[in-house]
Amino acid sequence: MIVIESHAKINWYLRILDRRPDGYHNLETVFQEIGLGDSLAFEATDSAECQIDGFPADVPAESNLITKAWELMRTEFPGKVRGLHVQAQKEIPRGGGLGGGSSNAAAALKAVNELFDLKLPASDLEMRGATLGSDVPFFIRGGCAIGRGRGERLTPVKHNLRCGLILLFPGVHVNTGEAYKKLSGIKRNSPDNGIESVLTALNTNDLNALCQATYNDFENTVVESKWFDEARAYLALAGCHRSFLCGSGSTVAGLVSEDGQNEKVLEYLHRTCAYQIKGCVIS
Ligand code: C5P
Repeated sequence: MIVIESHAKINWYLRILDRRPDGYHNLETVFQEIGLGDSLAFEATDSAECQIDGFPADVPAESNLITKAWELMRTEFPGKVRGLHVQAQKEIPRGGGLGGGSSNAAAALKAVNELFDLKLPASDLEMRGATLGSDVPFFIRGGCAIGRGRGERLTPVKHNLRCGLILLFPGVHVNTGEAYKKLSGIKRNSPDNGIESVLTALNTNDLNALCQATYNDFENTVVESKWFDEARAYLALAGCHRSFLCGSGSTVAGLVSEDGQNEKVLEYLHRTCAYQIKGCVIS
C-alpha cells in the first residue's frame, strides 16, 4: 500500500489568452502547490476494478479522475496494471478552483506507476496526465512553476517565500468550462503588472510585493457576486494582507505572514464567518 498526500494549488498569477482551435485557451500562469491536501491510500487488488471509498456519494466513480487515470494506465499496460483500491480522506473543496480532481489524478498516475512497477519517468506521467486535465502535469511536479500553453508547458520556479494562507470556500461550485465561457463573453480589466512582477517578488521572498503583483483574470467573472465581496470583506477584517480568487473559483484565498498570524485570523473567522474555512501554509 502507498499513501500519497494529494496537495491543492493556487495561482499567484493567471492570465487567459486566446481561444485555440481545439477549444482550450492559451494561458500564462504561476502555479503554487499548497499545504492543504487529500490523503489517498492506494492498494493493488486482484479484481478488474478501481474501487474508491471516501468520496461524497454524488461523485460517481466513473467520472472520478482517479478512475480515469487508472483506466488510462490499464489500457496501455494491460498485462501489468491490475485492480486498485483507493481510500480517500478528502480535504480539498470540490468546484473550488484548487485543482483537487487534477491533483488526485496525478497522485493516481504516480501510485499506479509504483504499485505495478511500470518504471515510467515523471516526464512520461506528465504527458499522459495532460490527456486527463490541463493542470495534471503541474501536480506530477508540484512546487511552484510557470504554466503556459493550456497549462501543461511548465517551467519550474525556485523560491523560499513562506507565508500563511487562509482559504474561504463560499459553497458555490464553479464549473471550469463554464467559467472560461463566461470570461470570453465579458469585457475584462487588464493586470497592472505582468507575470515578471510575481516572479521578482517570489525570487526576493517579498510578501508585500507579491500582494501587489498577484492577478487572476477569473475575478472578472465574479466581481458582481455577493459571495466574492463577502469573502474578501471577511478576510480583510480578519487581517489578511491581500485576498484573491483561486483558479476559476469559488475559493477565495487570503495571505498572512507566517508569524503565528494564521491562528488569530482563523480564530476570528471561525467566530464570524459561516463559509468553510481552511488554514495552511505555502511550503
Ligand atoms: O483541462 P481541463 O479538463 O481541466 O479543462 C476543463 C475545461 O476548461 C475545458 O473543457 C475547457 O472548456 C476549459 N479550459 C480552457 N483552457 C484551458 C484549460 C481549460 O478553455 N487552458
